[in-house]
Amino acid sequence: ADTGMTTFDPGFVNTSSTKSAITYIDGDAGILRYRGYPIEQLARSSTFIEVSYLLIYGELPTPAQLEDFTDKIRRHTLLHEDLKRFFDGFPRNAHPMPVVSSAVNALSAYYQDSLDPKDPEQVELSTIRLLAKLPTIAAYAYKKSVGQPFLYPDNSLNLVENFLRMTFGLPAEPYEIDPAVVDALDMLFILHADHEQNCSTSTVRLVGSSQANLFTSISGGINALWGPLHGGANQAVLEMLEDIRAGGGDTTDFMNRVKNKEPGVKLMGFGHRVYKNYDPRAKLVKAAADKVLESLGVSDELLDIAKGLEEVALNDDYFISRRLYPNVDFYTGLIYRAMGFPTRMFTVLFALGRLPGWIAHWREMNADPSTKIGRPRQVYTGYTERDYVDLSGR
Ligand code: CMC
Repeated sequence: ADTGMTTFDPGFVNTSSTKSAITYIDGDAGILRYRGYPIEQLARSSTFIEVSYLLIYGELPTPAQLEDFTDKIRRHTLLHEDLKRFFDGFPRNAHPMPVVSSAVNALSAYYQDSLDPKDPEQVELSTIRLLAKLPTIAAYAYKKSVGQPFLYPDNSLNLVENFLRMTFGLPAEPYEIDPAVVDALDMLFILHADHEQNCSTSTVRLVGSSQANLFTSISGGINALWGPLHGGANQAVLEMLEDIRAGGGDTTDFMNRVKNKEPGVKLMGFGHRVYKNYDPRAKLVKAAADKVLESLGVSDELLDIAKGLEEVALNDDYFISRRLYPNVDFYTGLIYRAMGFPTRMFTVLFALGRLPGWIAHWREMNADPSTKIGRPRQVYTGYTERDYVDLSGR
């Protein structure tokens, strides 16, 4: 039997799949650093574009490097006109995640001059194209869902401003950019930008380990992110809060169902494979939620319900004994909602933020000559040998 030679670790709870110099997490202490820089400092002082550079190239950019990087991205924000028509084929009520991942995969068909993982110039070009085009793709997925015309990017704007305008703007009227919204979204993108070997990043690496191109590897990551246990949790949290409100706002009944482990009932936005302490990102998001809602003049009952749930959970034995704390997804949706995003766009926003991390990991893997194709083993539990039976004998 082919069993004894391998380590059995379902869910990879205790398996390091790779070495990496990009992101450090100490789950017990609640520490997160990108390339050595604490997430709190980056969230406070940096920008998403700068953090993207840091993750991908390893160092904070000099002013000249940042300008060059920003200019390059700016030159690639347009989508091929044929690819724009691709959105017409999807039903209006489609969830935007498969629309976005399909469009990203389709980049491999439209930009065939940047597919070779072994050509550094092509890798660079596909990197820039992805960073530039994903906001356009995400905005078009939204526009498709509401039946509004697509807006071309306006390259006098920065990446986040451009995305907001392409999402919420209309051709007939000027779009007024709210700097408070731009800053908050930029900060949320920073918080999402990388998280070492999570499910979607591991997917990007696994797909890429076969030497598949960057676009198609990232498309795989977007699909992995969609699930409610991963990036889809931000949508699931909002739906959970809405359900609780619809039921009269009483959290006790819901919490009892969670603790009784009713099938499919979890406190979404809580728990993490690595953090056994308060997720440092959740701390920053919680503070931002109060600030952003106040500056937008939004008061949201769901924020009170969320805070109430957190308070109950942090004092409850079920959660304490399992070391379950709010994760990054617990409060983000409330901010996105206050900004005007529909619930179904939340996970797309996560993808926009995570993109530089995925790219950084794919490139780190691709540049390492010792990389082998990802190919886990298994413990076989099926039949031993048996003889084929003819159809007439079954
Ligand atoms: N609500 C209730 N119970 C929970 C929860 C939760 N959110 N999370 C974990 N548990 C319980 C779980 O039932 C298990 O109990 P027991 O030991 O009695 O069987 C124990 O805590 C350990 O959980 P686990 O499922 O073995 O932990 P995991 O590391 O396999 O899963 C997780 C991690 C994030 C998938 C899980 O905590 C979860 O499903 N959380 C809700 C979904 C969510 O918020 N996901 C976002 C994660 S952070 C950002 C991202 O990755 O996108």
